[in-house]
Amino acid sequence: MSRAVGRNVVRKDGAAKASGRARYVDDLTRPGLLYARTIRSSIPCGEITRLRLAFDASGFTVVDARDIPGRNVVSLITDDQPCLADRQIRHMAEPILLLAHEDRERLLGAAVEVDYLPATPVLDAERSDRVFKHVAITKGDVDEGFRRADRVIEGEYRTGHQEHLYIEPNGMLAVPENGGVTVWGSLQCPYYVHRALAVLLGLPDDKVRVVQAETGGGFGGKEEYPSMIAGHACLLALKSGRPVKLVYDRVEDMLATTKRHPAIVRHRTGVARDGRLTAMDIDVLMDGGAYCTLSPVVLSRGCLHATGPYRCDHVRVGGRVVMTNTPPNGAFRGFGAPQTLFAIDVHMDRIAEALGMDPARLRELNALRPGDTTATGQVLGRDAAALDVLRAAVARGDYRRKRRAYRGTNRGIGLSLFFHGAGFTGSGEVKLQSKASLELTATGVRVLVASTEIGQGQRTAHAQIVADALGLPYDAVEVAVADTSQVPDSGPTVASRTTMVVGGLLKQGAAEMRTMLGHLTPAAYLRAHGPLVVTKQYEPPPGLVWDDETYRGSAYGSYGWACDVIEVERDPVTEEIRPIRVTTAQEIGKAIFPLGARGQIEGGTAQGLGYALTEEVVMRGGAMANAQLTNYIVPTTLDTPPMDVVLVEKPYAHGPYGAKGVGEMPFDGVAPAVVNAIRSLGIDLRQIPATPERVMAAPRIRDSRLRQAADRPASARQAGFGIRKR
Ligand code: MOS
Repeated sequence: MSRAVGRNVVRKDGAAKASGRARYVDDLTRPGLLYARTIRSSIPCGEITRLRLAFDASGFTVVDARDIPGRNVVSLITDDQPCLADRQIRHMAEPILLLAHEDRERLLGAAVEVDYLPATPVLDAERSDRVFKHVAITKGDVDEGFRRADRVIEGEYRTGHQEHLYIEPNGMLAVPENGGVTVWGSLQCPYYVHRALAVLLGLPDDKVRVVQAETGGGFGGKEEYPSMIAGHACLLALKSGRPVKLVYDRVEDMLATTKRHPAIVRHRTGVARDGRLTAMDIDVLMDGGAYCTLSPVVLSRGCLHATGPYRCDHVRVGGRVVMTNTPPNGAFRGFGAPQTLFAIDVHMDRIAEALGMDPARLRELNALRPGDTTATGQVLGRDAAALDVLRAAVARGDYRRKRRAYRGTNRGIGLSLFFHGAGFTGSGEVKLQSKASLELTATGVRVLVASTEIGQGQRTAHAQIVADALGLPYDAVEVAVADTSQVPDSGPTVASRTTMVVGGLLKQGAAEMRTMLGHLTPAAYLRAHGPLVVTKQYEPPPGLVWDDETYRGSAYGSYGWACDVIEVERDPVTEEIRPIRVTTAQEIGKAIFPLGARGQIEGGTAQGLGYALTEEVVMRGGAMANAQLTNYIVPTTLDTPPMDVVLVEKPYAHGPYGAKGVGEMPFDGVAPAVVNAIRSLGIDLRQIPATPERVMAAPRIRDSRLRQAADRPASARQAGFGIRKR
């Protein structure tokens, strides 16, 4: 008797945002407010030798590393990143000194002179000898797999940095109060900020309060960096004893905050004559930037998705993420998977070419099926839907016919098949011990979670789940602001976990509350029994076992599955590639809020088109040289082609109403489908973004037989080109 789930209800955050009532951090103010500014390094590597304030300091609050009452770290995984550089500089735009003043003009006019002893930066990941993390995954015996191969196909694939470009830049407001501090900010993870502040400020947990302001997008970019900005605002607020607002403008945000990790992925693959994969040997190198941040987990997820959604008995994946002297790279939608999924799915098209096979047929042959095992030995359940999405997208996108029809024209069509594990990797969810609460109100119920609404529909989806599980109307469910003084720690709003994991806890809590209510209305229950709060804590589903040491077991509770078919048009004069049409089939378990799910898919796809085609972060001397929207080219509505979105639902037994995640997966498969479409034009590109310069410089796939191969029936066999025969 589902009433809200699966329906396009009115978004909980819709009216306030549409009417302008929603308050973002820059809308907030307080009496006696100071504005803040960050003084940053102008070298990528070296030491500060002298620092001088070359302005009239009256009325200024000035903070440096010596003012930090606790530990000078942005506490996260390894605690290697200082909140303020003391002497050592490891990247451009590294925070050194903080200023606050009530007059913005005077603040911006303040000159600080810094002298350095520069050292030689490492700007090339391949030359870095400092490794943040290694990952090794082994299945079967890869040498045996290569002995069984008829051909071995090798390739190297490269992806660049990417800027998140959330519509609202980062910002925080810090207010000293109650012998501690409260911050309001644009953020994804209130309890990450909370912990980082307690460590930095040396305050007990109950003296730190973190409240999410309305947030204009995150995409992972507000997963860890807000802890840094909150720290800065708090240091100034505590020293001055006044409220302090620190809001980045776009250039500062692009220069200083995290980006997607660039990657180099190498494949060596054994294939039998009939197209079956016999061995996959994969090497992943990621550029972590100057500090560790979330790099170990980004690498881990990248490696766990490196085989793509393909079956193979003999697999070896080796990965490492290294330090370079650029601003730290961090979380970004997909979290390592887009880099490795780009590599495998362009590689699959090259294998298809080598064997003279239809790329869709090659994927059909090798796609993971229910009962198959992944590279870590996880046995897939009945909801493994690779074949379903492949067939749906190929048919709906008219892939085979158009591939023939477009030959010899400037139109190309490409395909990608991909998957995405929802929730924290491995034992991560067990360690998080997430909690979610429901509080009975006179008119219904209030959801208490630290999960944040960042435009993705968290409040709506959570309210839908609770409404149905409790048997109340959707309008009777309210969702509390994510305020650490009011809500339990439901974990960070990341990893496509908010609907599946936190929504799952809420559904359990609502079912329990429903039993307690019996036939009573909320108001009647409160009169008879007093206040009621139900809290649920995460427990892993039965049989979910993972070993962090060996990388064996169930890496994720479940996977979503998806297939993109993308058509492009090449401008023969400028070599610009324009996306013309996207057909995508995405299996997400259950669409709790179908319009929101489609929005995630369309938005993630548009973001992926930027990654694939235009979004080039130009690094010069360790700094982003194009840190502005005039020449960092992000797709606009006018650049976004029609998208045909097919939702496929194969319920996950342990997700609420069968739901899996949907936030990240739509991004993952766009770049390989675009590059495969460019391949179908006879252009051999193995690096993104596919700018006109790269398309122009790319080798042409000369032998017409390679392109004809796609039309042959699956049984036709043909020798590969540039492929070692074994
Ligand atoms: Mo995300 S990239 O897991 O915030």
